[in-house]
Amino acid sequence: MPSTSALFAKPADAQHVLDSIHDQFQLGRETMLDLTGQFLEEFKVGLSGYNHPMAMIPTFVTGVPDGTETGTFLALDLGGTNMRVCEVVLHGDKTFTLRQQKYKVSDALKTGEATVLFDYLADSVDAFLTSHPPPSSHGGQDPFSEPTADVVHLGLTFSFPVEQTALDSGTILTWTKGFSAKHAIGKDVVKLLQDAFDRKHMHVKCVALVNDTVGALLSRAYTGGGCVLGAIFGTGTNGAYVEDLSNLRKLANDPAGSRGGVMVVNTEWGAFNNTRSHLPSTPFDNALDRQSINPTFQAFEKMISGMYLGEVTRNILLALVDAAPKSLLFGGKTTVVLNTHYGFDTSFMSGVEEAWEGAEARPDPQGAPVPQLSAFENPEKLDADTKVRLERVRAVLVKDLGFVEADISLRDAVIVRWVCSLVARRAALLSGLAVATVLIQTGRAVFKGFSDKLTKNEDKISVGVDGSLIEFYPHFEETLRESLRILVGEEVEKKVEIGLAKDGSGVGAALCALQAAKQL
Ligand code: GLC
Repeated sequence: MPSTSALFAKPADAQHVLDSIHDQFQLGRETMLDLTGQFLEEFKVGLSGYNHPMAMIPTFVTGVPDGTETGTFLALDLGGTNMRVCEVVLHGDKTFTLRQQKYKVSDALKTGEATVLFDYLADSVDAFLTSHPPPSSHGGQDPFSEPTADVVHLGLTFSFPVEQTALDSGTILTWTKGFSAKHAIGKDVVKLLQDAFDRKHMHVKCVALVNDTVGALLSRAYTGGGCVLGAIFGTGTNGAYVEDLSNLRKLANDPAGSRGGVMVVNTEWGAFNNTRSHLPSTPFDNALDRQSINPTFQAFEKMISGMYLGEVTRNILLALVDAAPKSLLFGGKTTVVLNTHYGFDTSFMSGVEEAWEGAEARPDPQGAPVPQLSAFENPEKLDADTKVRLERVRAVLVKDLGFVEADISLRDAVIVRWVCSLVARRAALLSGLAVATVLIQTGRAVFKGFSDKLTKNEDKISVGVDGSLIEFYPHFEETLRESLRILVGEEVEKKVEIGLAKDGSGVGAALCALQAAKQL
């Protein structure tokens, strides 16, 4: 069990404090293999029944697009940092155009009455339709401007756990990512939205419901031809993959499940190991969880995603500031940003790491080494390159944390950079673990005790991704790949093509609205 006792060590043990924190964040090969075994087990449980944290949600999407799809659709996307309304035109040649408007969702809306939140969503769609009137014709089949349909068809990307019962209905299971709107859990999200449209007498019909991971999967398939996994590493984390219906045992008695073939499953892997029986939680993770809006939920997500990494980092920085009898950071000083819950944004971490690297990216293969404090007893003896890098980090800390330069020593700068790298590296390794689990589950990689031969052996394995971490955090993908090599071997890792599913939420919702239109 990790312990905080090291934080109360004598000043002479300062190095020991850093070493101890470092050790708590390492994921050895054995731990990673053990976690993967547990992940596969939770997949199996979720595929077989309901009411498990790893929900393995059937999406009723029974195929992936091939890029020939056409039409114009409206999409509403709720669940990331912003809410968006977009108009998506699928051209049928793997390309699309998209016009969108972002709207802020205040904390009051996230945590107030659900009807107020859904009224706000409807108002935003109304405002969008006023400022971006539907084009008169896009030729051919066009639900947006079909003469027979005076109603605009909309696909909803709702990126929270929803137990879907059809392409256009599903009950909200829990909120995640800082949302907690009242009187929503257990209700049909499409109905909540449709009721809001109807209250405002808007001619908009919500015809499809999709998670952002499913959106990433479908849009990657549309633009790239084929895709096996859509994954988000952003404000939250989650993945959706194409599963054989024969494995989706909980649908065995459902007409949709007994047909055979495949179905996209939304794993909700952010809830992996909510009991924390296997995840190596540190005191810094435990503090984050205890103070969160949803204690005990989303254990995996809280170690990975953009909403939380800054907070884990802040907890470590504060522990170092508070270390007694002698502070180990910033001479014991803090700032408003550092003292504010969620004040230290994950983007500050990438800022720090980018500043350290400068123009020439020079990744540390094992993550940042533990700072050797003895080297900072005479900072003037540091080599010129290190000094330049640390000066850059110091400038970022002045800008983002609100310190004055004199408050930050080069030793402080090296410690902060190391903490950022420590927390982000663990996140990226765990992210790779989730991807590896899908590769094993779908027969694309073998895993001791689970499978001994590949059942699918393609030349390339396409994975569509989206989210600020994978897109912007330095070396996130490289470290994720390192994790894949550990778990499924280099040969399989090399086949994995990770591609950004830009605008996946909008395009995915459009593709689902199209599938729904075909079923009408
Ligand atoms: C959270 C949500 C999930 C979503 C993910 C990424 O984990 O529960 O539905 O896909 O965030 O946005």
